[in-house]
Amino acid sequence: MARACRAVARPLVLVPTMGALHEGHLALVARARKLAGEGGTVAVSIFVNPTQFGPKEDFSRYPRPLREDTARCRAAGVDLLFTPSPAAMYEADHSVWIDEEALSATLCGASRPGHFRGVCTVVGKLFNLTGADVGVFGKKDVQQLAIIRRMVRDLNFPVRIVGVETVRERDGLAMSSRNRYLSPEERAQAPILRQALLAARERSRKRRGSPEKLAAEVAARIRTAPTARIDYVSVLDAERLRPPVRGKTGRWLVAVAVFFGKTRLIDHLEIP
Ligand code: PAJ
Repeated sequence: MARACRAVARPLVLVPTMGALHEGHLALVARARKLAGEGGTVAVSIFVNPTQFGPKEDFSRYPRPLREDTARCRAAGVDLLFTPSPAAMYEADHSVWIDEEALSATLCGASRPGHFRGVCTVVGKLFNLTGADVGVFGKKDVQQLAIIRRMVRDLNFPVRIVGVETVRERDGLAMSSRNRYLSPEERAQAPILRQALLAARERSRKRRGSPEKLAAEVAARIRTAPTARIDYVSVLDAERLRPPVRGKTGRWLVAVAVFFGKTRLIDHLEIP
């Protein structure tokens, strides 16, 4: 892969994924195609990265429909598809990590210890392997995007990071490879996340209460769905991903992680 990437036409635009590609991933590929232009190169990686999964998480059952994914990439105009095995990516005695220490302290970083260390390490490896000029990521994983931007800034990766808006189903559910785990009943209830977030934004348009109150209202709305079990509902300062400082203005991030059965879904909304 590294050799192939050195020979291709620039700019080289990389879209890292774990596969089970859906319209959200394809929006990233479409943006990558635009950024690369006719003459440039679009690379997609599909790698279910073991180091970002916790011991009790869904690594082994994560969907791997490689044939369909390959066809989708071909149809979307991808030039290079990189599908390494875990053994090709990680030596048995792999021992160097990239660990972001501030933005990772809250939200998914708090409820999935080691997750962002795995993400940063694999994305750093993919940047080094490909020598990409641009990396394209989804805003759906808002904390991941912020952490990758920080990693690139703090470690001087010569890569430009581009964020792409979240692609949703018609009922508002953010597209995710994990949506396919949902039972019909869970799937019917999952749009409550988007509804609760939109209701919160509407209410704070009229009157911006405290972050705690706002979080409590979102949580209460989500609990009306019988199959929903809340991991976190957090209202944070959107820049620092820390609790908002009282009296200080600035955008808020309302972020949720909720289990429907065994499936953990995330979503968020910014409040200006
Ligand atoms: P994965 O969950 O496959 O997502 C790959 C990319 O697609 C991420 O940048 C993610 O934010 C984006 N994405 C997912 N769903 C989206 C949606 N509905 N709309 C827009 N973009 C969406 O995120 C990962 O993989 C991994 O952590 C990875 C970065 C590949 C490192 O292993």
